[in-house]
Amino acid sequence: MTLAPNVFDAEPIPEAARAEIDRMLRTGDLFRYTAPHEAPVTLLEHDFADFIGARYALAVSSCSAALFLSLKALGLPRDARVLIPAFTFAAVPSAVVHADCVPVLCEVGDNYRIDIADFETRLDDGIAAVIISHMRGHTSDMDRIMTACDARGVPVIEDAAHSLGTTGAGATSAPSGAWAVSVSSPTSWSMPARAGSWSAMTPTWWRAR
Ligand SMILES: Cc1ncc(COP(=O)(O)O)c(C=O)c1O
Repeated sequence: MTLAPNVFDAEPIPEAARAEIDRMLRTGDLFRYTAPHEAPVTLLEHDFADFIGARYALAVSSCSAALFLSLKALGLPRDARVLIPAFTFAAVPSAVVHADCVPVLCEVGDNYRIDIADFETRLDDGIAAVIISHMRGHTSDMDRIMTACDARGVPVIEDAAHSLGTTGAGATSAPSGAWAVSVSSPTSWSMPARAGSWSAMTPTWWRAR
């Protein structure tokens, strides 16, 4: 059994980040709609996409919104079956239901990772899309997952709320799926996408890092 990480202790916000937050608040111009160019969130999206080697990044209000929008962007028909980890956050099945799809649970090991044998078996059961949550920084075997999904033409969304900076099989954290989504909080970090992405990370943190 993998030990659970400490998710209760937060690190202080760095001085540079607080200075940047203060600078932005003093301008009062926080919105992408009003800035003539290079709104803070636009700069964040560009930096973020570059950082993870994605073509695009789009910041939205939450990871739940990112999951929902990713599913809608896939254009799935009503009642499409979406394979998700049995151990994840409530937002994941909620996003699937919200998108008029049906969640199908896949086994997760006591190391927080997808049980690949169970995953591959369930993938053949009329699955139209997959969401993988890299829980608590434990990255599932994306090589195996992508090989199985690519062979069947099944799109993959990576819920990387817990996994910015984690590595898979010793490689970088660049996402494998068509979309990757993320969340920003003291204990959750953002991740991006390859072909299109929704990230909930705050611009202030990114500019100040
Ligand atoms: C694994 C996982 N996915 C999705 C979410 C949803 O994020 P948000 O609260 O930004 O909607 C969370 C939130 O903690 C999460 O832990």
